[in-house]
Amino acid sequence: MRVLTGIQPSGALHIGNYFGAIKQMKDLQNSSDLFIFIANYHALTSSKDGSDLQSNTLDAAINFLSLGIDPNKSTFWLQSDVKEVLELYWILSTQTPMGLLERAHSYKDKVAKGIPANHALFSYPVLMAADILLYDSQIVPVGKDQIQHVEITRDIAIKFNNKYGDILTIPEFKVDEIVATVPGTDGAKMSKSYGNTIDIFCSEKQLKKTTGKIVTDSTPLEEPKDYETCNVFALAKLFLDSDQIQDLEQRYKKGGEGYGHFKMYLKELIWDYFKDAREKREYYLAHTDKVREILNIGADKARTIAKAKMEIIREKVGVLG
Ligand code: ADP
Ligand code: TRP
Repeated sequence: MRVLTGIQPSGALHIGNYFGAIKQMKDLQNSSDLFIFIANYHALTSSKDGSDLQSNTLDAAINFLSLGIDPNKSTFWLQSDVKEVLELYWILSTQTPMGLLERAHSYKDKVAKGIPANHALFSYPVLMAADILLYDSQIVPVGKDQIQHVEITRDIAIKFNNKYGDILTIPEFKVDEIVATVPGTDGAKMSKSYGNTIDIFCSEKQLKKTTGKIVTDSTPLEEPKDYETCNVFALAKLFLDSDQIQDLEQRYKKGGEGYGHFKMYLKELIWDYFKDAREKREYYLAHTDKVREILNIGADKARTIAKAKMEIIREKVGVLG
């Protein structure tokens, strides 16, 4: 089963990203033919400048490798290393009705937020369709905000197939309903845009500061505490097995410990959990040539498939070359 996903390189990763997406990707590389790439062409639609995009791209590769994306188990590459995707993007554009793109929520939302409307922003879903269709992807795991993009991909592929024959694989999206929303330090959904994140790769000092800021109620130290409504507990749970969760519940019920203790405990849990990832990251940061090499190997694998697919597509649509 070919499963494909793209990641926008967009700065520091937080615990919500890890438990909401990255952990599932790690599982998928053991159970499927996972294709995973860094969507740097897509990120160009919101990039500050060239050096910013370049460093974010390398950072994303380093972070994902450090957190356990394994190039021996999956095909991991940089979108811009396989140029065939841009050719398919153009060909698919010829089968994409304006109305389909005009209805895209994500485009409308971005424009409503004041991002200048340009052609790349508008045709973003067509490039995403090319990403998916170039590799005959069957399943595309996405967050809820990306479902419509996969539906657009399906519509484009069906239209293409109706005109040229059964060439493109019609993909399905997969939304992980059981993944709980990870709360941020203020209890709302953890998100970069809310400034309530706990970053995976921050310093220990920063981690202590951020976990210290988590909003709790004001139950006095000696009294029993309600773990069910506690943000510190909700976060700690992510790092614990069921016995450990029960132990922590008991500590809340018993009283005699303040939120400061639980925050310190949470900090230790997070710090220990990502120890291995931190060490790998240090290594990759000092060996960026190795990162480039890994991405090149991934791109070679992806390109072989892309080239074969493009030959078929070019022939069908009548583009010589
Ligand atoms: P942010 O909201 O910080 O900008 P993104 O939109 O870049 O995060 O999310 C990247 C991935 O991480 C998506 O798959 C998204 O579903 C997941 N994710 C982000 N925040 C959370 C969260 N608080 N809980 C669960 N999953 C999350
Ligand atoms: N648009 C996706 C996002 O913002 C990233 C992406 C680009 C993608 N191409 C893709 C995701 C293809 C899945 C499949 O998260």
